[in-house]
Parts: sequence; C-alpha cells; structure tokens
Amino acid sequence: MKALEGVKILDFTHVQSGPTCTQLLAWLGADVIKVERPGVGDATRKQLVDVPGADSLYFTMLNHNKRSITLNSKNATGKEVLERLIKTCDVLVENFAPGALDRMGFTWERIQELNPRMIMASVKGFGPGKYEDCKVYENVAQCAGGSASTTGFVDGLPLVTGAQIGDSGTGLHLALGIVAALYQREKSGRGQKVLTSMQDGVLNLCRVKLRDQQRLAAGPLTEYSQFGDGVPFGDATPRAGNDSGGGQPGRILKCKGWETDPNAYTYFITQAPAWEKICDLIGEPEWKTKKGYAKPSERLDKLNEIEQWTMTRTKFEVMDLCNPLDIPVGPILSMKEISEDEGLRATGTIVEVDHPERGKYLSVGCPIKMSDSPVEVTRSPLLGEHTEEILTQVLGYSASDFDRIKASGAISDQKAAAAE
Ligand code: COA
Repeated sequence: MKALEGVKILDFTHVQSGPTCTQLLAWLGADVIKVERPGVGDATRKQLVDVPGADSLYFTMLNHNKRSITLNSKNATGKEVLERLIKTCDVLVENFAPGALDRMGFTWERIQELNPRMIMASVKGFGPGKYEDCKVYENVAQCAGGSASTTGFVDGLPLVTGAQIGDSGTGLHLALGIVAALYQREKSGRGQKVLTSMQDGVLNLCRVKLRDQQRLAAGPLTEYSQFGDGVPFGDATPRAGNDSGGGQPGRILKCKGWETDPNAYTYFITQAPAWEKICDLIGEPEWKTKKGYAKPSERLDKLNEIEQWTMTRTKFEVMDLCNPLDIPVGPILSMKEISEDEGLRATGTIVEVDHPERGKYLSVGCPIKMSDSPVEVTRSPLLGEHTEEILTQVLGYSASDFDRIKASGAISDQKAAAAE
C-alpha cells in the first residue's frame, strides 16, 4: 500500500518542472501515465546525451516510476484517446507553453465536461498578468523571482544558483497543490484547477529576501557583511555573499587543502549558544568575554580569525570536531563526494538504477521518507513502452480498436511508420 495508490495521473509534462512533480507523485504511489509525442517524446530524452542512442540522464533522472504512452494529441483519433484518458484519470498535470492545451481543444471547461472530478494542474512561467504568455525556463524564473538579484557578492554580478529552484522547486509546489486538491475532492466531489507559476515558486523560496527589503526602511542590515565592511546600502535587498540568512554571523571558510581542492571549505556560524564552545575548541578561551568578540554583532569580521583554525583541518575534521559540541558547520560537499556517500545510499537518497539502453546510473531517490509508504525507484520508461498496455488495460480498448488507433497514426510517428 502506497500513500497515493489508486490515483491515476495523466502526465502531460515535459522538460523539468512538470516531470519533477509527477515523479514525486509516482514515488508516493500514483500511477503516472506520461503522454508523449510519437517519434519525439519529451525533448529531454535527447538532450545532453552521454550514451549515444540511449535516453539521457536528464530524462531518466526525472521520469522514474512512470509509464509512457505515445499519442498525437492533434490527430482526431489521438484526441479521442486523450478524452478517454481524461475520463479515466484523477489528475492531469501539464507544463506546456501558455495556451497550448487550449489550442489542442482541451480547455478547462472541456476537461470539466469530460470529467468533473478532474484536477488540472499546471506550471506556467508567470501567473496571470502582463507576462502570462511568456515561455519560461529555469534561469528566467530565478531572475524574475528575486533569486538572482539577491545571490552573489555585493560587488559582483547577480548569480543564478545550482539548485533548480525554478523548475524542480515549482514542481514541488505543484505536487503539494495536487495532493491538497485530491484531499479537498474527497469532501467536495469536485476537481479544480491548480496553478503554480515559476516566478511565484522562486519568490516563495526567497521569502527572507523580501523580509530584508522591508527591514531596509528601518536602516542598514547590520547582520550583513556589507555593514561590517562599511559599504553603504542601496534601496533594494543586496547580494549577501555567503552570509547566513538568519542574522547569525556565518560564512564559508577555507579548510586544509583549499589551495588545490575547490571544495575544501566549510560553512561556519558563530551562533550565540555555541560561542563559548567555539572559543575553547579553537584554543582562544579568552574570546568568550573579550571586547569585540563577545557579542554576535561584533563577530562578523572575527570569522577571518576562526578561518586561521579551520585552515589547519580538513572540512571533515572540522565537522567531526564541531558536531559533538553542537557547533553547526557544513562541509562543502562536491557532487563526487555526495555520489560516493554510503549514508545517502543507505537511506535511498542516492540510488543506483539499471536501464536497458544505458546500463547502471546513479539518481536521486525520493527525498520524502514515509514510514507507511516506502519508495522503490524504478527506471524511466522507454518512449511509448506502455502504449499498448495502457490502451488495452487502462482504457479498455479491444484488440481491433488498438489496430484502428494504430492505423490512424495517433500513436506512432507517421513518417517513421511510412518508412518502415
Ligand atoms: N502531440 C501533439 N502535439 C504535442 C504533443 C503531443 N503529444 N505534446 C506537445 N505538443 C505540442 C503542443 O501542443 C505545442 O503545440 P502548439 O505550439 O501548436 O500549441 C508544441 O508541442 C510545443 O509545446 P510547448 O510547450 O510550446 O513546447 P516548447 O518546447 O516550445 O516550450 C517551454 C517549452 C518549457 C518553454 C514551455 O513549454 C513553457 O513555457 N512551459 C511552461 C513553463 C515551464 O514549465 N517551464 C520550465 C520547463 S522545465
């Protein structure tokens, strides 16, 4: 028994944001039926290819535990199949460009006519308003959602982050909306539209930066390094480098080996409750009461002195020494170190998956661990791998119907079929 067992998802998503959402729902137990264009499929199947002829890691890592049906939704028979899918499924998830579903003939009104219990969940770049028609990708969302203007160093360019907060972050928000809509449907008996825009999703994750924007009205942000460095504040939340967002003096410090290893660093926070232990640990017990050191607000520039100590230890030694004393530190882990981490493998956060075209590869498993809904990560489907199975077993088409649908060109690439 899985949490979402029995829930059928018509997965009309592509690229990253939508597939992140439906992959999570699949891990929670939903039956996710990915509808893809015949002969083409999700564009990511053939993006950033590392094994010629095989589905890319970009695709495989975002589409585990799903089934794939190919269907031309612009073909008359394809539309007929899509209608049956809409009548059969509980949730339709899509992240097409604005208006694409309407142009196919599947407006929200039409979908409700076909299935009043349907939950239609969409990712769009922007919410309603002047940018609602824009196509949007990850970095556009990071810029428009306030992340880029607040990431980086005060004297440098705005920066995008490695975490895919625009795509995967919005997919996560959408998944929550869908689960809530399923819960509400239990009582109302009705479906509803769920919309998350990537700009909104990024801004939600940048909430503390809007907090700081308003605090600026009361004067400079004294916990920012910029304040300690005497750099005047402008009228917008500035980039804060590696400052801790919570007002505790902290940043990234060099560790042993930093000269050659780009990741030999640790995050270090001089939180008030840990200060005395930090002083003892680094062999400076007099700092506990020393003027210019004792108060958190005085300590920003003291991180340079603490760095003299962290530079004598590896990032893992710093972690091992600090953790037992409840001093919070964070080693800067490379993707190589994370991929080799035995602990992450043991919990299923890093998983090894076998794939018929590409062999074994590593993926990130489900980050949500539920005691009564275990997750087994299975490989992503090949393009159209489950077309016949879905048409006959899920939608109840007979063998002769299947032949008719096949002959119509609705489930195969007509050009490829003609060439065969
Ligand atoms: N059968 C027939 N046609 C299909 C199809 C199928 N199974 N699946 C998709 N199509 C068609 C669509 O109907 C659309 O046709 P139209 O332009 O005639 O209406 C066409 O394929 C292209 O779809 P679109 O979504 O516009 O893809 P794109 O590659 O041009 O744009 C994005 C990609 C991501 C920019 C765009 O989808 C988008 O902005 N999505 C919302 C925001 C988002 O999720 N962005 C992040 C992605 S990680």
